[in-house]
Amino acid sequence: MITTRPQPTTRKPDTAIYERRESAVRSYARSMPRQFNKAEGAWMHDNQGGRYLDFLSGCSTLNYGHNHPVLKQALLDYIAADGITHGLDLHTDAKAAFLETLETVILRPRGLNYRAMFTGPTGTNAVEAAIKLARKVTGRELVIAFTNGFHGMTLGALACTGNAAKRGGAGVPLSHVAHEPYDGYHGPDVDTADLLERRLSDPSSGLDAPAAILVETVQGEGGLNSASPEWLRRIAAIARHHGALMIVDDIQAGCGRTGGFFSFEGMGFTPDVVTMAKSLSGMGLPFALALFRPELDQWSPGEHNGTFRGNNHAFVTATAALRHFWGSAMFQADIARRGTLLERLLETMAAEHGLSTRGRGMMRGIDLKSGEIATAVTAGCFERGLIIETSGAHDEIVKVLAPLVIDDALLSAGLDILEICIREALAVHYGVAAE
Ligand SMILES: Cc1ncc(COP(=O)(O)O)c(C=O)c1O
Repeated sequence: MITTRPQPTTRKPDTAIYERRESAVRSYARSMPRQFNKAEGAWMHDNQGGRYLDFLSGCSTLNYGHNHPVLKQALLDYIAADGITHGLDLHTDAKAAFLETLETVILRPRGLNYRAMFTGPTGTNAVEAAIKLARKVTGRELVIAFTNGFHGMTLGALACTGNAAKRGGAGVPLSHVAHEPYDGYHGPDVDTADLLERRLSDPSSGLDAPAAILVETVQGEGGLNSASPEWLRRIAAIARHHGALMIVDDIQAGCGRTGGFFSFEGMGFTPDVVTMAKSLSGMGLPFALALFRPELDQWSPGEHNGTFRGNNHAFVTATAALRHFWGSAMFQADIARRGTLLERLLETMAAEHGLSTRGRGMMRGIDLKSGEIATAVTAGCFERGLIIETSGAHDEIVKVLAPLVIDDALLSAGLDILEICIREALAVHYGVAAE
C-alpha cells in the first residue's frame, strides 16, 4: 500500500542508555531522536508507532529502499539453506555468483574490463586499497584530491578528505595528499583542470608527480558539486599524461544514484580504478569493492587483507540487486525519468525562494546559503516526518537522497514538506511572515 503521509511521533523516547553507554561520537541520532524499529521501501518506523519518509536512504546506501522484498527473500533463502556467512576470502558459491553477475550484467555491457578487489566492508577501506595500489604501482607518494572531497575516515582516506572538522579528528599530520580546486571552485570562469595541468607541467610549481588523482563526479558530502563531463575527461587525460592513476570514488554517486550504475557512464573516459560501497549490497549490508584494470593488479597474495573481505550475505543481496534492477534497461530509464522529475520540482522550489539547486540524477539538493537555515529546514522536516540531511562545507545544502525506486507521489509528498520547511525557515531567519 502506498501512503503519502508521514506520521511522526512527538514524544521523544528515553535515551538514557545511549547517554550512559554509547560514545558521544554518535551524530544522526542527535538530530533524529527517535528509536527506530522497522523499515520498508521509503519508510522508517519508530517504536511508538511513528512513520517517517526517508529521504536520506542511509546516505545513499539504500538506493532500492529498505528491505526490498526480492533482496530480502534471496537473503532469507540463503540463510535458511545454511549458506556460508563468513569465509575470509575463500571461494564460495555466493562470491562466484556475484562475480559472474557483475561481469555479465554490469561490466561486459559497458565494455569495462576490471578486476574486483574485495576490501574491508566499508567505503573508506576501498579508498585505502585504491590509493595504496596507486602508490605501489607508480612508486610515487602524492595523491591529488579535490577541495570539498570526502573519501572516508581512516587515515589515508581522511588525508584525501577536505573537511577540517573531520581532518581534525586524525590526531596526526595528514600528508602525501594535495587538495586541488574542484570543477567550479573558483567560479565558472576559471578552468581548474587547466590550473592542475599547468601546476603538474611546471617543474617549479612545488607539486610532485602524483600516484593518483582521486575524484568524485558529484561531491556527496562536499555540497553536491557536480563536475562537468568535459572537466572529468580533462582530469582523466591529465592523469594519463602525468603517469598517475585516475580513481573515481563512486561510493556515494554510484549504483544508480546519478543515473547509470557508474556515475561516469557515457562521459567518454574510463577510470583506472573505481571504488564502490554503500548501495552495492542493495540492502544496507556492509560491502565494498575496488575495481581496477587487470594490469594494475600487482598485489601479492594477502598484501592487503582484512577479516571481512567479502561479506557473503552482501554477495547474495548484491547479486539479487544486479539481476533484479540492472538486468534490463528499464530501471536506468526509470531513474532518469525520476531524476528529471526531481530536478523540475527542486528547480521550481528554488526559483520560488531565489535559491539554486545542485547535483545530478537522484542526487540533488537546494543551496540554502547558510548552514543555520539548512539545519533549521532539516529539523523542521524531521518534525513533520521527513528524514533528510544537509551537506556542504557549511552544511548549507539540503540533500535529497530518496530511494531510486520511490513512487512519484511519495517523492512529491516529501518535497512538499521540504518546501513548507524552507518557507518557514527563511521566514524565521529573515523575519518575514511565512505565507
Ligand atoms: C564518496 C565517498 N567516499 C567514501 C566514503 C566513506 O564510506 P564509509 O563511510 O562506508 O567508510 C563516503 C561516505 O559517505 C563517501 O560518500
